[in-house]
Amino acid sequence: MTSTLFTPFAMRGLTLANRIVVSPMCQYSADDGSATDWHIEHLGMLSHSGAALVVIEATGVERAGRITHGCLGLYSDANEAALARVVGAVRRYSDTPIGIQIGHAGRKASAARPWEGGGALRPDQHPWQTVAPSALPFDQGWRMPKALSEAEIDRIVDSFATAARRAARIGLDEIELHCAHGYLLHEFLSPIANRRDDSYGGSRENRMRLPLRVAEAVRAVWPADKPMGARLSSTDWREDGWTIEDSVAFARALKERGCDFVCASSGGIAGRIAVPQGPGYMVPFAQRMRREAGIATRAVGLIVTPLQAEAIIAEGQADMVALARAVLDDPRWGWHAAVALGAEAHYAPQYERVRPKTWPGAALARGG
Ligand SMILES: Cc1cc2nc3c(=O)[nH]c(=O)nc-3n(C[C@H](O)[C@H](O)[C@H](O)COP(=O)(O)O)c2cc1C
Repeated sequence: MTSTLFTPFAMRGLTLANRIVVSPMCQYSADDGSATDWHIEHLGMLSHSGAALVVIEATGVERAGRITHGCLGLYSDANEAALARVVGAVRRYSDTPIGIQIGHAGRKASAARPWEGGGALRPDQHPWQTVAPSALPFDQGWRMPKALSEAEIDRIVDSFATAARRAARIGLDEIELHCAHGYLLHEFLSPIANRRDDSYGGSRENRMRLPLRVAEAVRAVWPADKPMGARLSSTDWREDGWTIEDSVAFARALKERGCDFVCASSGGIAGRIAVPQGPGYMVPFAQRMRREAGIATRAVGLIVTPLQAEAIIAEGQADMVALARAVLDDPRWGWHAAVALGAEAHYAPQYERVRPKTWPGAALARGG
C-alpha cells in the first residue's frame, strides 16, 4: 500500500514531510499575550507527533484583539521575546516546521477562558471594549462592540503587518490569517455582522476589502520564500450569511494576493446557529475551493482516523489535513497513522526505540 498522506507537499520554500498539520489550538495560558512554559510543553509535545507542521494558536495582533486574558499576542516586544524563547526551546529538539495563526477577535474578544465559564467577561473580570464592523453584539449577553472608524481600520491593518514582522523575526515557517469563526476579519466578510454603508460594507467586494488589505499588508512583510494562508469560515450555515460561493470568490482574491493555501473551516459568526457536524463534514468546502479557486486547501473538522485522512488526500479533496482534537487525544497520531498506512514517520533519536520495526510491542499496543 502506498500512502498519499505521507507524501511531501511544497509551498514556496517550505516542503512539508507529509500532509498532516496540527490545527491551531488556543491554550488560554499566556500572560498579557506572552507565551509561557505551558507553550513549551504543549508545542514541544505536538512537535513529536509525526505531523509535518504545527500551527501556533490564534495570536492577537492587538491587546484588545485577544479572545481572553489568557490568549497569545504578538503586540509587544515582551510577547515577541516570550514566543521566541518558546520556539527556540521546541526547536532545540525538533525540526518540525512551526506556523502561526494571527488574528483579531473583534466582537468575540473580552471573553472568559472556557474553564472559567466562557462568554463575555463580567464587570469584575477586567473586561475591555470590543470592536467590530458594526455595533451589533455576537449574541444575547455579549458586549456591544464599537464600530471601527476608517482610521481605526488602518491601524488594525498595520497591527497585522507588525505582528507578521515579529513572527518573521522569530523565524516561524508559515503564517495563517484568522478569517474564520466569527472573529474580526470574518465579521467584515459576513453580512450578518457587517452592516456598514461605507467602502467596507454592502457588496461582497466591499466586505472583502479589509481582509484583502490585511493579506496584502502581511504578504508585503512576510518573507517571500515562506507560505502564507488563511483560515476561512466557508459558510455561516445561515441563508442570509456568508456562503461557500462567497468563499470561492474570496479564495481566488487571496490567491491573487500571494496566499498559498486556505483552510476550510466554518461557522461561528453568531450565536444559536445549528451546525450539522459529522465526520469530515467540512471536507466538501475544501474540495470546492481547491477545484474552483485553484488554490491549495487544508481540510479540517472531525478528521479522526488515518484511513479517513488518507482518503481525503488520495481522492484530491484537499492537499493537507488539519487535526485538532485527535492529536490532543493522541499526540503520536502521525506515528500511528504511518503504521496503519504502511508509511514511515519521523522519530526523534531519543524515541527511535518505539519505531515499530524495532519494537515488538508495537503490534500489541495497537491490539494486534
Ligand atoms: C482546544 C481547542 C482550541 C482551538 N483553538 C483554535 C484557534 O486558536 N484557532 C482556530 O482557528 N481554531 C481553533 N480551534 C478549532 C480547531 O483548530 C479545529 O478547527 C476544530 O477543533 C475542528 O477540528 P477537530 O475536529 O480535528 O478538532 C480550537 C479547537 C480546540 C479543540
